Amino acid sequence: MSENNANNLAIKVVNLEKSVKTQEGELTILKGIDLEVKQGDSVAIVGPSGSGKSSLLGLLAALDSPTKGEVYLDGQGLSDLNEEQKAAIRKQKVSFIFQSFMLVDTLTALENVMLPAELAGIPNARSKALSMLEKVGLSHRLNHLPKQLSGGEQQRVAIARAFISKPKVLFADEPTGNLDQENGDKIEQMLFELNKQSQTTLVVVTHDLALAEQCRRQLKMEDGHLSEITPAAERIA
Ligand SMILES: Nc1ncnc2c1ncn2[C@@H]1O[C@H](COP(=O)(O)OP(=O)(O)OP(=O)(O)O)[C@@H](O)[C@H]1O
Ligand SMILES: [Mg+2]
Repeated sequence: MSENNANNLAIKVVNLEKSVKTQEGELTILKGIDLEVKQGDSVAIVGPSGSGKSSLLGLLAALDSPTKGEVYLDGQGLSDLNEEQKAAIRKQKVSFIFQSFMLVDTLTALENVMLPAELAGIPNARSKALSMLEKVGLSHRLNHLPKQLSGGEQQRVAIARAFISKPKVLFADEPTGNLDQENGDKIEQMLFELNKQSQTTLVVVTHDLALAEQCRRQLKMEDGHLSEITPAAERIA
């Protein structure tokens, strides 16, 4: 297995490409992405709809496989791993807040949040889930199924679920996209608390410029190309 973590990188991406077959032929979504993210850093990815942001996040989180190139997560090259090994890495190191939430339809809010903690063997999953749901303001909706929750409530359940295992890397795809100002601010605060207190590396896709500016680095995706837009004065060599 490839080890490549001499510089304490949470994420390293080398010449990453992703193409898919469509009825009109091959479509290249990601066109050669290079990226290094240090452990404990916070990175925002902005850019137009359809530019490839969610596709990139899926590859970084070992949820999908690239056509070309390599992703190293915490020094581990992902292309060497089989599906089972990738699942183990996700369980141990990564949390994901999906743009479409991806809650389990048949489980209540509380059960959805408890699930990853139970799968990862974290003790006191129930009390931790209760406290996470309280933090996102959902103590009054514990036993609701996803379909009985509003879009913003589902998003907050997804956020509580992503936080419960204190991941090494948190990928968040539009985490405040469905929230009002007050709840959006609260989630933003929670993201950076986790970043500071647990040294969780944050990679956040967002159209919310205030959230992007809170991150130490800002990157822009345009038509499958990723570039750094962090103001030079704020870059640390
Ligand atoms: N499996 C697939 N098959 C065909 N096309 C795909 C597939 N996955 C993504 N695409 C296309 O690739 C492009 C990038 O999609 P992606 O979801 O990464 O965009 P995005 O930047 O996250 O956009 P948004 O801001 O709207 O969420 C889109 O044009 C999308 O239609
Ligand atoms: Mg997207």
